[in-house]
Amino acid sequence: MNRHQFLAGLHEAVRPRTYLETGVQTGQSLQLSRVPSIGIDPAFTINREIQADVHLARTTSDEFFAREDPLAHLPIPIVDLAFIDGMHLAEYALRDFIAVERFTTPASVMLFDDTLPLNVLMANRKRESGSWTGDVYKATQALRDLRPDLVVIDLDTALTGTTLVLCPDASRGGALEGYDDWVESAITPDPQPVPEAILGRTNALDPERVLASAGWRNLVELRSAGRADAAAIRAGFSDVLG
Ligand SMILES: C[S@@+](CC[C@H](N)C(=O)[O-])C[C@H]1O[C@@H](n2cnc3c(N)ncnc32)[C@H](O)[C@@H]1O
Repeated sequence: MNRHQFLAGLHEAVRPRTYLETGVQTGQSLQLSRVPSIGIDPAFTINREIQADVHLARTTSDEFFAREDPLAHLPIPIVDLAFIDGMHLAEYALRDFIAVERFTTPASVMLFDDTLPLNVLMANRKRESGSWTGDVYKATQALRDLRPDLVVIDLDTALTGTTLVLCPDASRGGALEGYDDWVESAITPDPQPVPEAILGRTNALDPERVLASAGWRNLVELRSAGRADAAAIRAGFSDVLG
């Protein structure tokens, strides 16, 4: 299963009311949305039909989220599903997560793309390979280290892996404690020290198994009932989390 097949499965499972993505490019991921959406990319070149009612922002995600009311286009100030696929450098991807988290409920779902590089060259911060992940894998590791309250699941999607993040907490107010220290230690010159477990996908789950989890129905029911609570949502995924 590739990233777009998994994202299509997420649209079905999460039944989002709204969708946001950083990194639109030609619109291959955006075309999967059928709900009010926001797409952010300083250089998008959409070459296909988009069926969602979308605000396309030709800018960087940092500039976009610094605006006074960035989600003004959406009917509700909440992002139910987000795809983080903009600048492929760890600190940018992490900032995208922190910025989007301000507009979430515990039932919101975020997916990072390109988190499981196949080799060290691909993970270079300076793009030197056709298929480029950069060091985005460090952003999801930072969430594991700094935010143990989140559910962070690596997925063995083709070609370069994705990572699902569940149970965000908007009350963090767009801040990540420890961010500055993390930047200082994590952002290092190439080549990147990609852990063997990342290259070997040791801890990555089968995306089809994750999409088949009973947790999605539970998440949608809790959201619909206005009872989206992180513990209850996490419990729903016990069939894949153990
Ligand atoms: C891998 S492509 C996105 C692919 C798309 N999500 C898909 O799956 O079809 C990455 C995109 O991120 C955009 N990008 C680069 N820097 C960005 C930034 N700071 N904020 C938002 N997007 C950025 C690039 O212009 C590029 O189009």
